[in-house]
Amino acid sequence: MWGLKGCMQASFPGVVISGSGLFRPADVITNDELVTAFNAYADRQNALHADAIVAGTHQALTHSSVEFIEKASGIRQRFVLEKSGVLDPARMYPRFEPRGDDQLSLMAEIAVDAARQALADAGVSGEQVDAVICASANMQRAYPAMAIEIQQALGARGFGFDMNVACSSATFAIEQATNALRCGTARCVVVVNPEITSAHLEWRDRDCHFIFGDVCTALVLQRSDEVPSGRGFEVLGTQLVTQFSNNIRNNFGFMNRAEDRDPKDRDLTFYQEGRKVFKEVVPMAAAHIEAHLAALSLAPAQVRRFWLHQANQGMNQLVIKKLVGADAGSEVAPLILDRYANTASAGSVIAFHEYRGDLQAGDLGVICSFGAGYSIGSVVVRKR
Ligand code: COA
Repeated sequence: MWGLKGCMQASFPGVVISGSGLFRPADVITNDELVTAFNAYADRQNALHADAIVAGTHQALTHSSVEFIEKASGIRQRFVLEKSGVLDPARMYPRFEPRGDDQLSLMAEIAVDAARQALADAGVSGEQVDAVICASANMQRAYPAMAIEIQQALGARGFGFDMNVACSSATFAIEQATNALRCGTARCVVVVNPEITSAHLEWRDRDCHFIFGDVCTALVLQRSDEVPSGRGFEVLGTQLVTQFSNNIRNNFGFMNRAEDRDPKDRDLTFYQEGRKVFKEVVPMAAAHIEAHLAALSLAPAQVRRFWLHQANQGMNQLVIKKLVGADAGSEVAPLILDRYANTASAGSVIAFHEYRGDLQAGDLGVICSFGAGYSIGSVVVRKR
């Protein structure tokens, strides 16, 4: 199973998550602000199409509601990189200044911020890093890889590459980092998850306009023999699974121009069948975590903390009830989505970053993501 091309090791060293970092934008949008802007947009559209609505050839837009959002999702606010464009009823998406090729790109900028925090936390310098993985639900451009720009800005050596497994990008990247460290193709890996979700969310769609927020997380992973004992979290195992589904989708891509598509077509931003996702993914995620723990001869009850994907409070409630009978939002399965909303791949890493300080040596934890693909990734760790 470890007969990988490129592997250098006769025996495999342990791997430790030795640091974490979080970039959080300054702008916050509360549900009140969001709903006010959406309802103003809906009123404008309805006035614009008043005759067609009366004639029955155009469907009127319905108001959104704070009560619905909080009850259905648990989300109360979200951080975004630029709020004025999102809240402008004549626009309804963020406003970013284009940057020249000689300037650090926005996605790299927030990744470098989070990565520097994670490196400081790990006590490692940029020159010690020899691999950068930029794992995110959307990349700002096709190439050169975001990771290589981030690698250069950090003063890192080695190599960098981008990867996208939507909401599971972080856990899938942790497995890639772990394999590289075990195989000896890297000694210190930075995983960054810059999620500029505000640019690919359809803020004009009542069904989903409340879902996402912007953020960037970063982790440092190192060989365990290079991290002082008592520091960090040892990776006991990673387990990934995917199963194709159209229930969360975004058709934006390099073929759009050749297809003569209107860049504002609805399917070129995020869309989903939220209720189906909820129903189908909850049992998959719970069974996945249970099976992963069983493969390591562990039971869910032995786990001190579950850092779950943060998309919907009700989903986490069902997953954690099924696993250990606890509540989402308790210390067993902390929630961060009330403050951050769904931050795609970064959600479970934010939970890890904010709720790991109280774990004692030997305590077990599980980082688990679930989302588009479908994709599920789990990482079982033990506090050193
Ligand atoms: N304000 C008021 N009412 C709204 C609304 C809003 N913003 N959005 C939808 N509604 C209405 C719907 O029109 C529907 O009305 P109807 O019953 O008259 O048809 C009703 O509320 C229920 O809508 P539904 O979409 O079934 O809600 P839900 O309970 O499934 O909650 C989600 C919606 C998106 C919060 C929920 O399905 C979810 O979070 N699913 C998981 C999604 C996920 O994890 N995705 C991964 C993303 S990466």
